[in-house]
Amino acid sequence: MPPTLPAQARAAVLAWYDAGGRTLAFRASRDPYAILVSEVMAQQTQVSRVLEAWPRFLARFPTVDALAAASPADVLRAWQGMGYDRRALNLRRAAQVIRDEHASQVPADIAALEKLPGIGPYTARAVAAIAFGAAVGAVDTNVRRVLGRALPGAPSAAAGSWIQEAADASVDPARPGDWTHALMDIGATVCRPRRPACGACPLKRWCATAAEPDRGHEVRSRAAPSPVRREAFASTRRWLRGRIVDRLRDAEGDGWTRIAGPIGTHGRATVAEALVALAADGLVEVDEGRSSYARLATS
Ligand code: ADE
Repeated sequence: MPPTLPAQARAAVLAWYDAGGRTLAFRASRDPYAILVSEVMAQQTQVSRVLEAWPRFLARFPTVDALAAASPADVLRAWQGMGYDRRALNLRRAAQVIRDEHASQVPADIAALEKLPGIGPYTARAVAAIAFGAAVGAVDTNVRRVLGRALPGAPSAAAGSWIQEAADASVDPARPGDWTHALMDIGATVCRPRRPACGACPLKRWCATAAEPDRGHEVRSRAAPSPVRREAFASTRRWLRGRIVDRLRDAEGDGWTRIAGPIGTHGRATVAEALVALAADGLVEVDEGRSSYARLATS
C-alpha cells in the first residue's frame, strides 16, 4: 500500500486553500471543455500567460465543435503567447475526436481522456478531478515534489507508479478538484524547489521532511535561467520554430511570407530545415514553387 496523508492533513490543506489559495479565473469554470483548455495551457506555460490567453481562446472557440471546425491557422493565432505551438494543434485534434467519438462531450473516463491527442496521464487526471470530481491524483512536477517530500518512504526520485499511487490515495474524496488546485498552489508558492517556506505550509505537522530542511528539498530543483542559458535557448531549434510561427501569425493578406535565414544565430540551411519540420508537423504550409515561402496551415 502506498503511504497516504491522514484525514486531518487533508482538511488542513483544504482549509489553507480556502483561505489563501490563488484565485485564478479558470478555476471558477465548471465547463469540462474550458477546463481541458486551461489544463493543456497551464501545463507548460506560466499561469500569468494562461490568464490572458484562456479567455481569448474561449471567446474565439467557445465549444468543442467550434474548435474542431477551425483551421490550424486560426487555432495557432488564438494560441499566441503560449509557446509549444504543437499543443494547439493537438487540442484541435482532440476536439475533433471528442466531436466524432464522444458526441461533443469531453469524456469523464481517464482511459478515454488519455487517448485524446496531446493528453497525457497528468492532464487526463487533472480534468477528471477538476471537471468531473473523480478522486484521482494529477501528478505534475509540483505535486511530485510536494508528495515526494511530505510522505514517508518516497524513493529519491519519487518516480513512476509510487508517486501516482500515493497521489491517488491522498486525494480528498469530497473535493478532488480543489485538492488538485491546492497541491499545485503549495508546490508553486510554499514547497518551492529551493528554500521551501516550511513554516507557512499547511502540511508541516505531517510532513516527513519539514524537520530536516536538507532532505528531499533538492528534489527536482531547477535554477532560474541565467543569461547564458537564455542565449543557449535562442540557439535551439525550438526557439527558431517559435520565431517562424510568430512571423507567420503576424502575416497580413493571404499569409504567404518569405522565411529565409538568418534568423538569430541560424543560417539559411537551418531555417529551411525548420520550415520542412514545421510543415511535417502540420503547423505550416510551404509554397510548392517557392520553398522559402510559407504560411500557417489552412487545413
Ligand atoms: N498548472 C496546471 N494546472 C494548474 C492549475 N489548475 N492551477 C494552477 N497551475 C496549474
